[in-house]
Amino acid sequence: MSAAPIDLVVMIGSVRSGRIGPSVADWFLGVAAKRAEFTTAVVDVMDLDLPHDLVRSPSTDVLANAIYSADAVVVVTPEYNHGYPGSLKTALDSVKYEWRGKPIGFVSYGGLSGGARATEQLRQVAAELHMVSVRDSVAIAQVRKVFGDNRSAVEDAAVDAASRMLDQLWWWAAAAREMRGTDPYPGR
Ligand SMILES: Cc1cc2nc3c(=O)[nH]c(=O)nc-3n(C[C@H](O)[C@H](O)[C@H](O)COP(=O)(O)O)c2cc1C
Repeated sequence: MSAAPIDLVVMIGSVRSGRIGPSVADWFLGVAAKRAEFTTAVVDVMDLDLPHDLVRSPSTDVLANAIYSADAVVVVTPEYNHGYPGSLKTALDSVKYEWRGKPIGFVSYGGLSGGARATEQLRQVAAELHMVSVRDSVAIAQVRKVFGDNRSAVEDAAVDAASRMLDQLWWWAAAAREMRGTDPYPGR
C-alpha cells in the first residue's frame, strides 16, 4: 500500500462568538502532528461564507477543493442542545461528490457527555454522504475546564482515543485512495 502520507482535513464546525472550537482543533492537530503518516489542513467553517440557500459560491468552491484533495476528514464539533451546530450542517450540505468514499472521524466536546450525541447524529449524516465513519472518536467533557481560562490537562484517555481514531482513519483512507486510483467510487 502507498507510503505517501494521508491528507487529513480537520474541519472546525463551530462559528459561535467566543467559541472554543479552535482550541480543541489545535490540541487535536498537535496529536496528529506526531504522526508522520498524516499531513493536515484546517477548514474553519467560520472562514467560509457558505450561503444557507446552498447556491454555489466562492466559499463553496474553497470547501469543495479542500474536501476533494483530502483522503480523510476529522470534524471538530461542539454539542448544542443535544445536536451539532447548524453551521456544520450547512457545510456538510454545501458539497456533495467530494465527500464520497472517504473516512470521517469526530472530535466532539461539550458538558458532561463530551458531545457524544453530536457525534452519533453526525454518523447518520456521514452515511448519507457516502462516507465511512470510523468506530473510535474523541469526546472531551467539561471543555471549558480543559480549554478555558483555568485550564486543566487533556486526559490521557482523549489522547489514546485520538490515536486509535487516527489508526482507523489511516487504514480506511489508504485503502480508499488506492481504490480511487483504479475504480471510481460507485456512488458518483
Ligand atoms: C446553544 C448551546 C447549547 C448547548 N447545549 C449543550 C448540550 O446539549 N450538551 C452539552 O454537553 N453542552 C452544551 N452546550 C455547551 C457547549 O458544548 C460548550 O459551550 C462549548 O464550548 C460550545 O462550543 P463552542 O465554544 O466551540 O461554540 C451548549 C452551548 C450552547 C451555546
